[in-house]
Amino acid sequence: MTRAPAKAFYLTTPIYYVNNAPHIGHAYTTVAGDVLTRWHRQKGESVWYLTGTDEHGEKIMRTAIANGLTPQEWVDKLVETEWKPSWRLLNIANDDFIRTTEVRHTERVQRFLQSLKDAGYIYAGRYEGPYCVGCEEFKLPGDLTESGDEKLCSMHGTPVEIVKEDNWFFRLSAFVEPLLEHYRKNPDACQPESARNEVLSFLKSGVTDLSISRSTFDWGIPVPWDLKQVFYVWFDALLNYATAVGLGDEPTSEGGKKFAQVWPPDVHLVGKEILRFHAVIWPAMLMAAGLAVPKKVFAHGWLLVGGEKMSKSKLTGIVPSDITDHFGVDAFRYYFLRAIPFGSDGSFSWEDMSARYTSELANDFGNLASRLTAMVEKYCAGILPAISHDSELEAALVVTVEKADAAICALDFQGGINAIMEFCKRVNGYVTEKEPWKLAKDPANKTELESVLYNTAESLRALAVLLNSVMPGTCGILWQSLDADEMLGAIDKQRIDHVATWGQLPEGALITKSAPLFPRLDISE
Ligand code: MSP
Repeated sequence: MTRAPAKAFYLTTPIYYVNNAPHIGHAYTTVAGDVLTRWHRQKGESVWYLTGTDEHGEKIMRTAIANGLTPQEWVDKLVETEWKPSWRLLNIANDDFIRTTEVRHTERVQRFLQSLKDAGYIYAGRYEGPYCVGCEEFKLPGDLTESGDEKLCSMHGTPVEIVKEDNWFFRLSAFVEPLLEHYRKNPDACQPESARNEVLSFLKSGVTDLSISRSTFDWGIPVPWDLKQVFYVWFDALLNYATAVGLGDEPTSEGGKKFAQVWPPDVHLVGKEILRFHAVIWPAMLMAAGLAVPKKVFAHGWLLVGGEKMSKSKLTGIVPSDITDHFGVDAFRYYFLRAIPFGSDGSFSWEDMSARYTSELANDFGNLASRLTAMVEKYCAGILPAISHDSELEAALVVTVEKADAAICALDFQGGINAIMEFCKRVNGYVTEKEPWKLAKDPANKTELESVLYNTAESLRALAVLLNSVMPGTCGILWQSLDADEMLGAIDKQRIDHVATWGQLPEGALITKSAPLFPRLDISE
């Protein structure tokens, strides 16, 4: 009998609106997802990482028209020239990229929603109320601020539009009790704690049924039983997490097998402004279809500029290349996860980023690597001496791996990176204390000198593996210069549960100097 493959660790990001190019807020979520999935891959798990683009709705339609293109031309252009290249630039190793205009999505959406209608969860009604095109959201009175006679979306600060339409409605109210029960029983299903509390109080405040179609424009997926209407963009978009992995396909088909292997998602990463969609509407849709709900929705905080959520529409958007051109891709990947507790808001500042780049990356990590490689070259002709054991470093490494693994698996990226960088500091302390440059002056100290160099190299081996999910480019270079690629195999294949086993780099490895891992910043820019 063949065993079914183990359930994959399935992680998703929001699918982003393609009315614009990605800014560092979008990159923040996508990098976090990339770090977490790379870490799980290095734990030996099978992993599926999905990201993509949300291409329907009024916002995108209006942007396309304003730019003199059809919506399809506009989204095709933006995805190919902006979104996919940005993720390549940032070294994102997603397994799939879903676009909501793809047939694999639109067909499965129609089939799924027809089945909800057949099961009695969709009915005809009339919607009258405020709508924000920026949010693509029907607004509740509590979501609005007043300015004279006008009602403004409190998120965008722009006037809401009053929609009066005959629409199709989803019986969201029928799922309030099951959802409350779900979150009470599974405290981990919505994190952090503040997000969970927000969802619980929203559910208790009285949730009404949801309009799920629009009839005044046509840029969307047609409602199969009423072709004058298209589905509300969020109803279409949320389904991407399931359509991308074969929702509703025959169990024996490729899609059916994929679905069985990955469903339900382990983590939906989202920004906190779209929590309700993911923690209320989405699981209700799944419950209505009798499908398992996501194991965890994690709402992270915002990158702020001038105290406000950074956004393109407010002209505060910073594109990733503004930062990577100056600091490099890996410093970008490192900085936001290291500096801001995941779940809290954080302000971006060039000064803070420069300071951390210099002290943590260039001085603590980069210098350790260049000192070690230079010393092995100088004192040992580039040949790694015999395996040696330093019990303190070994013990510290074991604790480091435990702490980092627990933190990263709980999405505490800051805690995980801190634990690893503490170890890096400790290794620096070890080198400073042992003073190998002094030992090298007297041949009688040869054994001790060699032991210090070996222990430092072995610590760097561990650091490369542990930091690889955060900074894969840099750690790959370090891995090569330790000759580890040749001796131990590809860095991506190095397991977290094996990294603390001391003595993996063999005697005789050929250590080479590389260019500085984190070059001095050019302050003239
Ligand atoms: N298309 C919807 C999501 C549909 S998911 C089924 C959408 N798109 S978006 O383009 O507006 O992207 C929103 C997401 O981008 C946020 O939830 C967050 O992941 C990320 N961010 C956008 N701006 C951000 C900040 N200023 N700070 C942090 N993350 C930000 O909503």
